[in-house]
Amino acid sequence: MSENNYVLFDREGQIAILTFNRPKALNALNRELLQELDQILDQIAQNDEIRCVIVTGAGEKSFVAGADIKEMQAYSVMEARALALFGQSVCTKLERLPKPTIAAVNGFALGGGCELAMACDIRIAAAHAKFGQPEVKLGITAGYGGTQRLPRLVGSGIAKEILFTGDMISAERALSIGLVNHVVEKEELLNFSRSMAERICKQSKCAVGLSKQAVNEGTQMDLDRGLKYEAEMFALSFSVDEHAEGFQAFIEKRSPKF
Ligand code: CAA
Repeated sequence: MSENNYVLFDREGQIAILTFNRPKALNALNRELLQELDQILDQIAQNDEIRCVIVTGAGEKSFVAGADIKEMQAYSVMEARALALFGQSVCTKLERLPKPTIAAVNGFALGGGCELAMACDIRIAAAHAKFGQPEVKLGITAGYGGTQRLPRLVGSGIAKEILFTGDMISAERALSIGLVNHVVEKEELLNFSRSMAERICKQSKCAVGLSKQAVNEGTQMDLDRGLKYEAEMFALSFSVDEHAEGFQAFIEKRSPKF
């Protein structure tokens, strides 16, 4: 356990578990929490022993209920721009972390909370979780990537409905529009997420890393350039020893040891 206050950092073997920890404020993202998260992501990026990251919220009620509304209330235009750029940079750091990330969404994922979850590679929701971009109700727009990542994940029509109405949507609806990968009972959330992280940790670290890079970079490109990029990642995977073990294990009808 780290000495951080607002983001707890636990290690379970090769898996890092980050817990947003302001339960009295439903884990709303104040500046300090974002700064802690930013620093922890740097530490994780440099730590070769960590192969997968799970992020979740403290308590049963909320993953993250958004940016801290009380902190933002008196912000000037310049302060608002600076906050959005900082929040976006942390979300982008999470998205580009050279290790797979799983958001275990244990309750409200609203505003900046939904945006943080969308910056993760995979989202698993507890059945009672609720998603939404309620910023319009406050008279502001989403600022940590919601107007950009949501349409890329669910298409612009559904994204606009969520952004324009500010409505909360259920975990089941989030599943049906592709915003989350799985919905599980709340008691199962961490075990389900851990078990997926463990399955990922067993695969070739290089192949998983290059696959993440290919999807992240490729989805910013047209198909022709994306396919060329994929061929480069495919070639690169042949330059790392892990592929020799993967092929040999197949021939010998055993599990590979990566
Ligand atoms: N910021 C600051 N404090 C928050 C908060 C937030 N985003 N969300 C909840 N809290 C605080 C409440 O003020 C309350 O504190 P007090 O006990 O001191 O009054 C405490 O958490 C518990 O919240 P509620 O009493 O409101 O709990 P509830 O169960 O009645 O309602 C909720 C839960 C529907 C999530 C409600 O808290 C809510 O609507 N929260 C705000 C959600 C929101 O608008 N998020 C978007 C923020 S803007 C943003 O994120 C911009 C961006 O893109 C970066």
